Amino acid sequence: MTDSQTWSSELNLSDNEFWAQSPEQRYAAYRTLRALEPPPFFEAGESPFGTEERGYYALLRHADVAEASRNPQLFSSAAGATSIYDLPVEFNEYFGSMISMDDPRHARLRRIVSRAFTPKMIKKFEEDVQQTAGVIVDDLLATGPCDFVQHVSARLPLKIICQMMGIGDEHYEMVLRNTNIILSGADPEFISADLNEALTQILTAGGDLAALVTSLAEQRQASPADDLVSSLATANIDGEQLTPAELASFFVLLVVAGNETTRNAISHALLLLTEHPRQRELLLADCAGRIGPAVEEIVRYVSPVIWMRRTLTADTVMNGSAFAEGDKFLLMYQAANRDETVFGPTADQFDITRSPNPHVGFGSAGPHFCLGAHLARREISVILRELMARVPDIRVAGEPDYLLSSFINGIKHLPCEFG
Ligand code: HEM
Repeated sequence: MTDSQTWSSELNLSDNEFWAQSPEQRYAAYRTLRALEPPPFFEAGESPFGTEERGYYALLRHADVAEASRNPQLFSSAAGATSIYDLPVEFNEYFGSMISMDDPRHARLRRIVSRAFTPKMIKKFEEDVQQTAGVIVDDLLATGPCDFVQHVSARLPLKIICQMMGIGDEHYEMVLRNTNIILSGADPEFISADLNEALTQILTAGGDLAALVTSLAEQRQASPADDLVSSLATANIDGEQLTPAELASFFVLLVVAGNETTRNAISHALLLLTEHPRQRELLLADCAGRIGPAVEEIVRYVSPVIWMRRTLTADTVMNGSAFAEGDKFLLMYQAANRDETVFGPTADQFDITRSPNPHVGFGSAGPHFCLGAHLARREISVILRELMARVPDIRVAGEPDYLLSSFINGIKHLPCEFG
């Protein structure tokens, strides 16, 4: 480990002030940090769990993120991928799913879950996305100017995940509230400023979601239906199935990963199309042809998931710098997605025609690559196509209210207008 260094708050990834900066300030900071050799090291601050913390390195270069992602034996996820701090065991009950596992446990879970996404189920959810997006835009036109997050971007992923799992409409509000709490970062709108209270809130949210899916699984074991919970809670063709605890934590991962990410991609998309009228014109001129690359550019530019963590399983040397077993690394997807050595001098520009676009917004190639990438791409492209066709002048009508978080690039509220 290198000696700890004192960072000014505009460069210190562990400082909430860093995450309260404007996106432009943050991207300028990434440029400075990315140039450093060895990669910058940050103190983690006091752990809310009372554990001794040794800080972390931040990998901001595209090549370094790729290298860590393709070496899971060395860059392990098992100590926790979504938290800088090692989590106490009670958190694993609800938050210990595949994203924070290594092989062979990870491979087994991913195999069972992937089998459940049959072509028939994928086709069904693709149709559901189309139909739901249509209804959301109908409602938007009836409502008029409103909070785009509440009325559009939060609704689509939530409805689709719940439909996939077989969760009834009456639970939507509860699912949304609890996923908001779990990924609230440090934002006082969703979570208490008192650390102990905040931890209780997060555990309660995980517990409530787990209880919902556990009772659903019991019903489905008795009478299976055509949904994901039924496929996961009953044996597949290889005789494999998830245990009740595995199902519960997978569900928590799925609703959190599926909601909080896609929602923010859609909200940021409206903001980007408002701030870059030329890009909107390009999209409107050939929506069918450009929507695919536009979605990739949105995911690159926004990077809804800012980082994932890995922990070294052995001493190693990377780019000539030595690191020790147990060292923690943040794979900074958002910074890697601005790396000029890969995206050239226009790395900071939003360009829906960018090609090639080897972004790492869904992670880099490796065993943990986003399981929901196909669904997310579908949701973002369908809702944008629907909006561009039916409300082509929809635009942001005020300041975005950003989520205060180092992990999720979120927008809580976004006033929109049209007509
Ligand atoms: C724009 C939307 C999304 C973004 C930016 C995103 C991003 C990511 C990233 C960065 C990872 C970690 C990759 C790694 O560690 O190598 C990940 C993993 C994951 N994502 Fe997504 N995601 C999105 C949407 C979704 C959706 C819609 C779902 C579910 C339906 C989903 C489910 C998952 C799961 C289950 C994992 C863990 C996979 C594993 O550990 O094997 N994601 N995602």
